[in-house]
Amino acid sequence: MQVSWDSLHADIAACDKCGLCRRIHHKVPGQGDGNADLMFIGEGPGAEEDLQGLAFVGLAGQLLTKMIAAIGLTREQVYICNVVKCRPPQNRVPSPEEAAACLPYLRAQFSLVRPRVIVLLGATAARAVLGDQIRITRDRGQWTEKKGVWFMPTYHPAALLRDESKKRDAWHDFQAVRDKLLALGEGKEGKDGRC
Ligand code: URA
Repeated sequence: MQVSWDSLHADIAACDKCGLCRRIHHKVPGQGDGNADLMFIGEGPGAEEDLQGLAFVGLAGQLLTKMIAAIGLTREQVYICNVVKCRPPQNRVPSPEEAAACLPYLRAQFSLVRPRVIVLLGATAARAVLGDQIRITRDRGQWTEKKGVWFMPTYHPAALLRDESKKRDAWHDFQAVRDKLLALGEGKEGKDGRC
């Protein structure tokens, strides 16, 4: 059965499956265009996201906003969310159990948005979606296609803030994302034509 946005947000609000919610201010389900062609998936909310209840609104989020603008889009035109919807303490990496507990919500977001291209920001997102074999420095910039949806792992914007030398590769990846969206938009059926 297809979930609705309202029921998904209610399920996330009520969720206590992994215990991360016990020390947070707000759940961070994700936001943006619920019908976007392009979806971004990060790791999990940080301090600012936890305070505001919004994904990618801290320093890493500001960089992500600039990178989205650099490929000719706005945050309102894409959908942005995370693997886990609650901030892990001290911004630690979510455990495999925490990520697995939250995965049904990500799957529901995926089936509601039905994006054509998904950018996986960092190793946690890339592994949660593409599998544990992913190594972000080795596999970033490589396309994987599944059932007509294109997945691109790239560096997390927080990694770019820590190490500026990674920005060149990340920019290359974002340009490839822009080109893929343009190519998919040419001469293809609209989203409603897909199953
Ligand atoms: N890092 C993430 O992975 N997600 C956010 O929402 C913010 C920082």
